[in-house]
Amino acid sequence: MSNYHVKNLEEYFQVYRKSVRDPETFWGEIAEENFLWRKPWDTVLEYNFEKPEITWYKGAKLNITENCIDRHLYARGEKTAIIFEPNDPKEKAEHISYNQLHDRVCRFANVLKENGIKKGDRVCIYLPMIPELAISLLACARIGAIHSVVFAGFSAKAISTRINDCDCKMVITSDGSFRGSKTIDLKGIVDDALESCDGIETVLVVKRIHSEITMVEGRDRWLQPLLDEASNMCQPEIMDAEDPLFILYTSGSTGQPKGMVHSTAGYMVYTAYTFKNVFQYREDDVYWCTADIGWITGHSYIVYGPLANGATTVLFEGVPAYPDWGRFWEVVEKHKVNQFYTAPTAIRALAKERLDFSEKHDLSSLKILGTVGEPINEEAWHWYNDTIGKKKCPIVDTWWQTETGGIMISPIPFSTPTIPTFATLPLPGIQPTLMDEVGEELSGNMVSGRLCIKFPWPSMARTIWGNHKRFKETYFSAYKDMYFTGDGALRNSTGYYRITGRVDDVIIVSGHNLGTAPIEDSINEHPAVSESAIVGFPHDVKGSALYGYVILKETGETRNHDNLRKEINQIITEHIGPIAKLDKIQFTSGLPKTRSGKIMRRILRKIAEKDASNLGDTSTLLNPEVVQEIMDNAL
Ligand code: WT7
Repeated sequence: MSNYHVKNLEEYFQVYRKSVRDPETFWGEIAEENFLWRKPWDTVLEYNFEKPEITWYKGAKLNITENCIDRHLYARGEKTAIIFEPNDPKEKAEHISYNQLHDRVCRFANVLKENGIKKGDRVCIYLPMIPELAISLLACARIGAIHSVVFAGFSAKAISTRINDCDCKMVITSDGSFRGSKTIDLKGIVDDALESCDGIETVLVVKRIHSEITMVEGRDRWLQPLLDEASNMCQPEIMDAEDPLFILYTSGSTGQPKGMVHSTAGYMVYTAYTFKNVFQYREDDVYWCTADIGWITGHSYIVYGPLANGATTVLFEGVPAYPDWGRFWEVVEKHKVNQFYTAPTAIRALAKERLDFSEKHDLSSLKILGTVGEPINEEAWHWYNDTIGKKKCPIVDTWWQTETGGIMISPIPFSTPTIPTFATLPLPGIQPTLMDEVGEELSGNMVSGRLCIKFPWPSMARTIWGNHKRFKETYFSAYKDMYFTGDGALRNSTGYYRITGRVDDVIIVSGHNLGTAPIEDSINEHPAVSESAIVGFPHDVKGSALYGYVILKETGETRNHDNLRKEINQIITEHIGPIAKLDKIQFTSGLPKTRSGKIMRRILRKIAEKDASNLGDTSTLLNPEVVQEIMDNAL
């Protein structure tokens, strides 16, 4: 029996028990047998959740790109590593072999070096889903630079905040991006962002849409000519196991986004291990994850996890509705995709469309379907299972987070019996538990509480960039000696977990994790606004949509409310991005507050959900009269 590849339920239980009984032997064996190390470790794990300080494979030396590329060259040099499927179906797909990937990553890495990037420097990447995106991550990793990818749907303000937070020296972007029938001026957005970033010395620009852009003399350089001149050999920088590999920002319940820092060795081992098991990847499979590399899903399960296994991974530039709602299924048929991994919001949108969009394509290559990002509702699950999987493909409902680096709770396909809406069982090495509000662990089954993890796993984030205190407070202070996830969950009679949603002030809209505070801060910048509060409400396609309660400075504000709504959404778009726009905006004279001045979001949530019949206890409110007004004017 191999620890690395779990093939049936009995093996799962055996491996799981071993991973809990003796985690160091378990993770030591997996690391030793499946990866390339330049120097072995002294200890597998040292940790202290109090501080918190977590160290995996201390003393080991490696380079993750040797593991993702070089070591495959002998046996898989001509195998396709990446299939690039462009936005426009008429543009030819590109098959990049492991040999070609090696060549391109080395050239790019040399260009980074020639432009002053050294080990430990931070590089901001703001690119569409084109091969250069995956290659730029790997090129940074090749030379030990820390990448910080910013999703190419974010605004100039969001980019500059992220660049300044971790002092990036360089930005890698493109002239623009294709998105369905539209183009987006990425370079223009970067130019705006850089007006408030002093540390950026170089901007490397990929030519993708051939638009007219301005190049700032001495700062901006076209990438292609530099690549053409660079050598295709670049010795990998030998890194310590705990050297940071990347920073990725995620929203929190207060203003500033959190730069989650992931380390090299533990992240590599865990993403590779979970990719192999959750997708049961076999040598000739074609695997497709539709996420953007700008999110953790893309980092772990488009780039690092698949490539560490020598897999073929599809990189899709387009959107599900272009040129029509059959695009996903056309791509599945064209590339004979075996594992398909997407988000509930996409599934719900696709399920609303005519059946012939999927029926006219041959989906028989599919073996496994995956979902991630938010709870999947039963209806969407059944549509996915019946219409796409033809009841033959197990659905892996994978629960995890930016902070966890890899999938934590998920069925192992063909082994774990699935139940709609349940993420089922923890993967080997993961020790989840449920806690009540006063800090007691809930034992037994048929309980619901707050989801925590009791023991470290290799790919957990090590800190928040520049703010270890916040790391401790957010994740390790709610419950002693535990990592707190921010999610609520229930455990059924067979020990399966069902994730019920966030218990903090984070709302998941179309799978995007949005903190309420930064959105409220943006709204409050409108000159007519004095205060605001955001809550989520159920939405057919997005899962949750945003409902804003806004207090105007002058109650007699004469401007048209619809114009104000547009202006507010415009500000949000500028500050955060269009994904954070509000679906509903209700103007009100006050917000329900506790005596300590905290907004009682529970009440606002109930009203937004049209469930105001039972508002619970409102006696502790400072201003109970406002509740009636809000109810009367609810949208
Ligand atoms: C939050 C993390 C992990 C990659 C995408 C999101 C929610 C994630 C599931 C799932 C129910 C899920 C949780 C989690 N979530 N997967 N299978 N079922 N909820 O990463 O942006 O860091 O968001 O997404 O609430 O805490 P993220």
